[in-house]
Amino acid sequence: MSVIEIKNVCKTYYMDGGMKQNVLKGVNLTVEKSEFVSIMGPSGSGKSTFMNILGCLDRPTSGKYFLGGKQVSGMSDDELAHIRNRMIGFVFQGFNLLMRRTLTDNVALPLIYDNRLTKEEELARAKEMLKLVGLARFADRFPNQISGGMQQRVAIARALVNNPEMILADEPTGNLDSKTSDEIMTFFQQLNKEQGITIVLVTHEPDVAQYAKRLVRIVDGNIEYDGDVKTYMEQQK
Ligand SMILES: Nc1ncnc2c1ncn2[C@@H]1O[C@H](COP(=O)(O)OP(=O)(O)O)[C@@H](O)[C@H]1O
Ligand SMILES: [Mg+2]
Repeated sequence: MSVIEIKNVCKTYYMDGGMKQNVLKGVNLTVEKSEFVSIMGPSGSGKSTFMNILGCLDRPTSGKYFLGGKQVSGMSDDELAHIRNRMIGFVFQGFNLLMRRTLTDNVALPLIYDNRLTKEEELARAKEMLKLVGLARFADRFPNQISGGMQQRVAIARALVNNPEMILADEPTGNLDSKTSDEIMTFFQQLNKEQGITIVLVTHEPDVAQYAKRLVRIVDGNIEYDGDVKTYMEQQK
């Protein structure tokens, strides 16, 4: 069963004054379990719009979306929130950590919606995730007491805490220097290989995209390339 099945998805934004913009123009995409996919494309080509749809943060104007075999297009907001929380971990460019909370509390945040765990179990689970990203010893610190690269690792720990089916990452290395970007991407790659977690990641940097196996290139709302990342990079030389 595919994790993601997108069929002929269109997204149109309607603006004040009757203006409209067709941002996604009939996109088809299937992602199998344990794939690692990079999405590239020029600025404004619709990558974030597409990621928001994949993450059930927004709905397509038309077309179908099956997530883990379930059609999400027709779900209510509550149902969407539920499936999102259970199946997807998000990593953003800006880390999105709460500055007044400890790293443990930040990582435990998505567990609030899960009534199955006690508070102690939640904190233990968060600490386990911090250990996984190599930050166990900083568990009681606050985000502004650690580096940007470490903050992004905390965000990854938070994304993993619910044991999601897949990770969606929109420009996760956009605020990091190239050495730290490499560290973060190596970590994603390890996670994908060792735990089989499905990863879909947006980047505009070829060096970052190459950590995935498959590349999807979106240009002006259409998929222009979908295939092996190395084959694509060879073609560009
Ligand atoms: N909420 C919105 N309302 C109206 N237009 C939007 C909205 N979000 C994005 N857009 C427009 O859609 C186009 C694609 O944006 P986006 O998906 O963010 O592209 P990318 O992430 O590839 O840079 C841009 O022209 C952008 O201005
Ligand atoms: Mg974007």
